[in-house]
Amino acid sequence: MGPITSVFDLETMARKRLPAVIFDYVHGGAGMELTLQRNEDDLCALALRQHDMRDVSHRTMSVKMVGEPAEIPLAIGPTGLAGLTWANGEVEAARAAEHFGVPFCLSTMSICSIEDVAEATSRPFWFQLYLMKDRKVNENLIHRAHAAGCSALILTLDLHVQGKRWADAKNGLSVPPRLTLHNTMDILSHPRWLVGMARSRRRTFGNLQGEVQHAKHLSALTQWIESQFDPSFDLETVKWVRKTWDRKLILKGIMHVDDARLAVDAGADAIIVSNHGGRQLDGAPSSISVLPEIADAVRDRIEVFFDGGIRTGSDIIKALGYGAHACLSGRAWLYGLAAQGREGVLCALKLLQEELSDCMALTGLSDLHNIAPDVVTAQPALRP
Ligand code: FNR
Repeated sequence: MGPITSVFDLETMARKRLPAVIFDYVHGGAGMELTLQRNEDDLCALALRQHDMRDVSHRTMSVKMVGEPAEIPLAIGPTGLAGLTWANGEVEAARAAEHFGVPFCLSTMSICSIEDVAEATSRPFWFQLYLMKDRKVNENLIHRAHAAGCSALILTLDLHVQGKRWADAKNGLSVPPRLTLHNTMDILSHPRWLVGMARSRRRTFGNLQGEVQHAKHLSALTQWIESQFDPSFDLETVKWVRKTWDRKLILKGIMHVDDARLAVDAGADAIIVSNHGGRQLDGAPSSISVLPEIADAVRDRIEVFFDGGIRTGSDIIKALGYGAHACLSGRAWLYGLAAQGREGVLCALKLLQEELSDCMALTGLSDLHNIAPDVVTAQPALRP
């Protein structure tokens, strides 16, 4: 393969390097993948208006996200099982984020633990919490994130039940992958991945392993986790988390103006307009399509972040032009990690930065804080 020119090249490399059971988990969405597709299509459908005759030799891309400096308006979003794409994957990604200068968020469902990441980095990171039915586990996770110096907690709201991802069910995805004949052949035909994974410090959910004393076997742990997603999770639960966590709180999975207002009232510091990358409610609108009304309603009172479909720097401008203060990335950085480990995450971030910088220059922007409303528009209709 020639030079890596875009995140799509990293995706191609990830597809080659990973066994299908892992690649499909990263790449796929829920059900018919309608929402996954909409996220990408709707960003592509937006047009960028160029403004010429402006001096754009100095372009400022850095922002703050809940007080954390970010070289570009993007954070590494929480993704479970990143450590199955590359040995010690979450630690490698956190190191890349620290080196580049963007916030990193560790998922509850990561392979490396909160303490592994804290030990490997010196910049405060964020922790993403899935609320479990067992409240003791939630308290412990919050306490551990606090003790590790995490500066923000992302509370994910859209997992009352887990979205049905058909490919994962067909592939028998589990942690570690179930060794059916098909998976064994698949894994054996990806020796680079297999050899790399031998360097992993951990083989299962690093944050939860120690929390569940009765789950002596890995399969018991996986079953326990599946039974723990809490359908009773409501506004009172959010308020409980707000009381328990005294640092920045970010609510993730907001797709409705009413929920955005409730988030403000509950005392959140930021929200993430997100449909979980099309992995939960299949049929939900794209997150970019609901961003403007949500941003208009609350952006003066709370920071509004966006995720879902970011693959290029121009996608970031589109989200900012539609009212977001900053974005998070899921698959883009994961493709980088799966392709080349820490270097691959850095590569994804640099590509997005270069594209963002070029896009600013060509749309006549020197500063991301004041994108004129006409820069990002619907594609104008053609004259009949
Ligand atoms: C996710 N996402 C996610 N979100 C979360 O709050 N906790 C998690 O553990 C995970 N796990 C996860 C795994 C994988 C493989 C993916 C792709 C995504 C959702 C993620 O944080 C984010 O909302 C989406 O990925 C954003 O969409 P893009 O950037 O992937 O298009």
